[in-house]
Amino acid sequence: MKFKLFRAPDGSQGGGSAPEAPVISTPVVTHGAGPVGPTKISARDVSVFYGDKQALYDVSLEIPDKTVTALIGPSGCGKSTFLRTMNRMNDTISHCRVTGRIEMDGEDINAKSVDPVLLRARVGMVFQKPNPFPKTIYENVAYGPRIHGLASSKGELDDIVQISLKRAGLWEEVSDRLHSPGTGLSGGQQQRLVIARAIAVEPEVILMDEPCSALDPIATAKIEELIDELRERYCIVIVTHSMAQAARVSQRTAFFHLGRLVETGPTEEIFTNPRERRTLDYITGRFG
Ligand SMILES: Nc1ncnc2c1ncn2[C@@H]1O[C@H](COP(=O)(O)OP(=O)(O)OP(=O)(O)O)[C@@H](O)[C@H]1O
Ligand SMILES: [Mg+2]
Repeated sequence: MKFKLFRAPDGSQGGGSAPEAPVISTPVVTHGAGPVGPTKISARDVSVFYGDKQALYDVSLEIPDKTVTALIGPSGCGKSTFLRTMNRMNDTISHCRVTGRIEMDGEDINAKSVDPVLLRARVGMVFQKPNPFPKTIYENVAYGPRIHGLASSKGELDDIVQISLKRAGLWEEVSDRLHSPGTGLSGGQQQRLVIARAIAVEPEVILMDEPCSALDPIATAKIEELIDELRERYCIVIVTHSMAQAARVSQRTAFFHLGRLVETGPTEEIFTNPRERRTLDYITGRFG
């Protein structure tokens, strides 16, 4: 069962009066490392303020579907802030204000009729530090589908848990201990468990904020492989400090500096032939 972004007036998820997303007719184009899907998320003139302090300035960026987009830039340039605008996580910060427009499939995600809880199921998020719930492996994955009513029987829920763990590349390692605590897994396994938890609620977009920075090189390689597989199904946006990682996993790269989007394009182009001097200086390690 798929739920809608908009709640029906009676508060249910299935209302027929919810506005339909327009059909996007952007053609699929091919860039460097592979095909890039049609636009999934479109940010226009997005600015973010923490109290009086402006953290992002008029960022406009098209994020394609079925593609990995990497956000790079020095510490404090606004990467996490921008990532959080795409699932309204900034709403949870009391002194934070977002202006501009962000559309997903042509719908304004900041519209009053959008329920942020449903939005965050469609736009899942994975953080730097793996954050499994203090529950069993099974419960970590089953929790979301249960609260969103995605399974009508225990058997269906079991299937969702199994499929999600398989897609996250973790099933083989945990199938015999589904009822052990998720926190007992290694860091890399915990991160894949968190990805399985995000996948279980049928997201369309997965936001990842430095998902490998707490992991060793082997666990990192596994997550990178997984990201490459996941892009067949999902729109993925990843923040990374590793130029090598951005080059390995992404098809599009956006470079941020001092709260502004300096340059965006196919990853290969950004890394081999950037248009802006500041991008070149950053990717060659002159600052950051
Ligand atoms: N909750 C907050 N309250 C106030 N200011 C914040 C908050 N979160 C971020 N900022 C400020 O906004 C700016 C952008 O921060 P952000 O965390 O988005 O940067 P970043 O590019 O993700 O950095 P890093 O690479 O270090 O994670 C910084 O100046 C930061 O201090
Ligand atoms: Mg950050």
